[in-house]
Amino acid sequence: MPTLTYIEANGTAHAVQGSEGSNLMEIAVANLIPGILGDCGGTCSCATCHTYVDPDWVARVPAATDEELEILDGALDVRDNSRLACQMILTEALDGLVVRIPVRQF
Ligand code: FES
Repeated sequence: MPTLTYIEANGTAHAVQGSEGSNLMEIAVANLIPGILGDCGGTCSCATCHTYVDPDWVARVPAATDEELEILDGALDVRDNSRLACQMILTEALDGLVVRIPVRQF
């Protein structure tokens, strides 16, 4: 089972295992990771699952769709490495992935 690490804005790191095929929002919520809300349930319409993909991983995560980029436009503190956790599906290729959580989601 792949392992990934969520790092809160205060630096607290949470290393968790997730099932392949699950998205990173679902895994965060299931593991009670603070700061990832997932208000829309993963339908790519709320941006409360905003994360920053670690620079070492940006090129290895499948690119965002136009729909995701449109919703990210409405998020706060967006950066070049911003992604919606619900739109990133965990695969074995992402074993070791690190994402950071913004200070605020709204
Ligand atoms: S959970 Fe709403 S956009 Fe990701």
